[in-house]
Amino acid sequence: MFEVKVPATSANMGPGLDTLGVAFKLYNRFIVEEIETGLEILGCDEKYANSNNLVYSSMLKTFEKLEKVPKGIRLTFKTDIPVSGGLGSSATCILAGIAAANRICGDVLTKQEILNFACEIEGHSDNVTPALAGGMTVSIITKGVIHYNKIPISDGIKFCVLIPKLQLATEDSRAVLPQRVPLKDAVFNVGRVSMLIVALVNGDYEGVKLACKDKLHQPYRMGLIENYSEITSFVHDTKALGVFLSGAGPTIMVMLKKDDNSTEKKLNEFLKGLSGYWETLNLEIDQSGLEIIDL
Ligand code: HSE
Repeated sequence: MFEVKVPATSANMGPGLDTLGVAFKLYNRFIVEEIETGLEILGCDEKYANSNNLVYSSMLKTFEKLEKVPKGIRLTFKTDIPVSGGLGSSATCILAGIAAANRICGDVLTKQEILNFACEIEGHSDNVTPALAGGMTVSIITKGVIHYNKIPISDGIKFCVLIPKLQLATEDSRAVLPQRVPLKDAVFNVGRVSMLIVALVNGDYEGVKLACKDKLHQPYRMGLIENYSEITSFVHDTKALGVFLSGAGPTIMVMLKKDDNSTEKKLNEFLKGLSGYWETLNLEIDQSGLEIIDL
């Protein structure tokens, strides 16, 4: 029996659509036991307690890849990451399923192979990469292989996440994205994502503030999220370093200077006056990524 612990992640980080991501100290934990026969899934919503469950289906895909016929499986979920919230809950399920099946098969897949396979299942690399490796990452995919680097961002920055009651499936949030974008919008993002990475590493707060803008996905998605425009306009007029949609949303991420103690209070006051319900949470960066703990 063992536990797979996988961190929450925030993908895109503004201009880095499908490439940037960061892991946080907020976790989904899955306890995995081999049993004689059958499937038991405990601790999750009844609608997920069946063979379509993303952890289990990812385990089955891995067993198939490794040509192993599994015994029965009992999965116990201890999850803190909101489902369909923009904090990488699907990535935790996919990675946990692959890592669990791999452990049962004797750890035959390398970390790189686990990552490539997780990306193949999820369809993009920006959540699974930091969830597996920890920290902030930039990742690219070449012929099905993910190449990534960890970005050592300045420790003068903190993250405040704004979570609405709303759920938004990634599929729906991707459906509103255009297939083509104007060259000037692509250039806008290329400059900003490059600047954002360097500014985050160097602690260039003015650079972070200028670079944390996007024209490739957020303008198309904002209409799906109640209060998005009000919140981002409010945050732009504060001392915050940046505000962006976390992954495909609906969660919104605010980057602050570590010594900024006033913006969060103002933000909480502002959120109370909105039509929708928003909860705030301070998140620290997780540097470890996925861990397997023997029980
Ligand atoms: N990069 C993906 C998207 C993240 O924006 O659709 C989904 O979590």
